[in-house]
Amino acid sequence: MFHTTFYLRRLHSLVGLLALGLVLFEHIFTNSMAIGGPKALNGALAMMELIPHPIFVAIEVTCIGVPLLFHAIYGIYIALQAKNNPSHYGYVRNWQFALQRWTAWYLVVFLLWHVFYLRIFVKGITGTPISYELLQTYFTSHPVFTVLYILGMFAAIFHFTNGITTFCMTWGIAKGPRVQSVINVLSMCLCAVLCLVTLVFMGSYFI
Ligand code: HEM
Repeated sequence: MFHTTFYLRRLHSLVGLLALGLVLFEHIFTNSMAIGGPKALNGALAMMELIPHPIFVAIEVTCIGVPLLFHAIYGIYIALQAKNNPSHYGYVRNWQFALQRWTAWYLVVFLLWHVFYLRIFVKGITGTPISYELLQTYFTSHPVFTVLYILGMFAAIFHFTNGITTFCMTWGIAKGPRVQSVINVLSMCLCAVLCLVTLVFMGSYFI
């Protein structure tokens, strides 16, 4: 029983950092093409369409769907066991620990909405290709959705970058308090940069 929990925790940690981290970077990179306007984003999206459909779906299911489902389901189990007490202890790391859990809950709802609406309903069921024009109309006509999307991206970015520090602790990469705080500062700098890029590409739909 102890061994199963140990290996499941390690797998959860690896999947979060490597598989989902890669998906997050790819997502931010592709979406940041919107800064260059319709031609740049539609060009990047068209590149992905070059992959034969069955292979594309197989990649989506095995490289995104399965890792995300495992990480989310086991993550909910971990989060339900966590005791968040940031105001009691008041340390920055305690707040970060609590935020890791709160962003996880937001991500459960946000990712369900995002994947079901854009990927399954719009692209899958109605067969409408995702394009710059579609996203621009969607965001500019629903400002509340834009805010929820920005918050969803911020939640994913914080959850991932804070996860880099906890990953280094879990795996014994960062052993002493000094090296842990250096990794923490670097991770939070990455968090700030990725959040800024997100604000810029989301804002570009409104200019
Ligand atoms: C879909 C909802 C999600 C839930 C419920 C969730 C839940 C969790 C929880 C509870 C932890 C802390 C684990 C621990 O303390 O041992 C965690 C860690 C982590 N998560 Fe997530 N997560 C979700 C989505 C994501 C996404 C989208 C990413 C990547 C973009 C991600 C990346 C990570 C990373 C890198 C860690 C750190 C692993 C470690 O500490 O070793 N998670 N997640």
